[in-house]
Amino acid sequence: MDIEKIRKDFPILENTNIIYMDSACMSLRPVQVIESMEDYYRNFPACIGRSSHKLGNKASLEFEKARERVKNYLGAKNAKEIIFTRNSTEGINLIARTLRFGEGDTVITTDREHNSNLLPWQELIKRRGIVHKVVPSNEEEKFDLETLKEIISKTDKVKLVSVVHTSNLDGYTLPVGDIIKISHEHGALVLIDGAQSAGHKPVNLKELDPDFFVMSSHKACGPSGMGCLYVRESILEKLEPFLVGGGTVYNSWYDKANYEELPLRFEAGLQNIAGAIGFGVACEYIENIGRENIKKHEENLNKILTEGTEDIEGLEIVGLRDYRERSGIFNFNLEGINSHEVALLLDNIKNITVRSGMHCLHSWFNSRGINGSVRASVYFYNNEEETEILVESLKGIARLR
Ligand SMILES: Cc1ncc(COP(=O)(O)O)c(C=O)c1O
Repeated sequence: MDIEKIRKDFPILENTNIIYMDSACMSLRPVQVIESMEDYYRNFPACIGRSSHKLGNKASLEFEKARERVKNYLGAKNAKEIIFTRNSTEGINLIARTLRFGEGDTVITTDREHNSNLLPWQELIKRRGIVHKVVPSNEEEKFDLETLKEIISKTDKVKLVSVVHTSNLDGYTLPVGDIIKISHEHGALVLIDGAQSAGHKPVNLKELDPDFFVMSSHKACGPSGMGCLYVRESILEKLEPFLVGGGTVYNSWYDKANYEELPLRFEAGLQNIAGAIGFGVACEYIENIGRENIKKHEENLNKILTEGTEDIEGLEIVGLRDYRERSGIFNFNLEGINSHEVALLLDNIKNITVRSGMHCLHSWFNSRGINGSVRASVYFYNNEEETEILVESLKGIARLR
């Protein structure tokens, strides 16, 4: 992996001296993605799936090519199983609203879910009378398969197990292969929240075999307002329609309509065509770099951050301690300084962009009585020099106390 060559693909890294370490929130986009979207707007800015003129045909072709690229990237069996959404949150809500939940149906999650995989279930408790159970982390803050087995075997009507793949708290990757196996053995469906995993490590849905998987384009070098939901084809008939209207039916009368198959049944109205095209190109871009390479690179940068800050008095890592289990996320607190203040100092003094607060994980922070943290999240375009600058900056801030 030639990092310095890769960095040239990212205009903001070429044109400014920013040290961008907020990729868990949103990644930067390479010029290849930006140009692919511009190409649509400049050269074939037409409707898809409706008009039979040349421009429309070209747009439809590129849109479906994008779906194929995303399908290959995730290792799904069939492009039909890839539904374009606005983001991961929409994908999870789509399942919450369409999976025909009834009174007493149970949804199991972990205790480290992003609000996007928590609030949809809280709403279903109010609307449909479902039961929500949480698998607590063990003493090491890891997912405990034995606890899952115990909860799932003692609970009737577990309809869905919905878990995060890689945590946005600390980069910890859950044993989702085992979670899927155990859940299926107990007749439950499984949704994997891949918002933080899909752009960073190899994901093969054929091997993993979940029923649903969500991904955010904007965390994987693609445009914002774009994501996807994978739905196993055989589950289609278990789902109710979601948003309905143009594009979701193949025929309608004043009193009824015939719904489309996957994925069109769930893609109502005119789609984000440029977004889908950019998403597809982003998947190919990452694939060319290689997700194994990305994983190793992030681990190396996290090693520098973790070992370099070990001697800073009062620097407390949030979540798992071992950098080998934290992907590209370095989440911490500096005793005596508020997390927002640390983030502002890094931004204003060194142009280092990190995130502060509760990272949409309020439930986790509240349960542990922590009122926030500073999260630096690196990606393949960060280099060692940048991580060393962050280490030195934190030493400087620590001396200010
Ligand atoms: C683990 C996790 N799940 C879900 C989301 C929500 O993603 P999106 O903004 O694409 O809806 C995020 C975003 O940070 C996340 O980190």
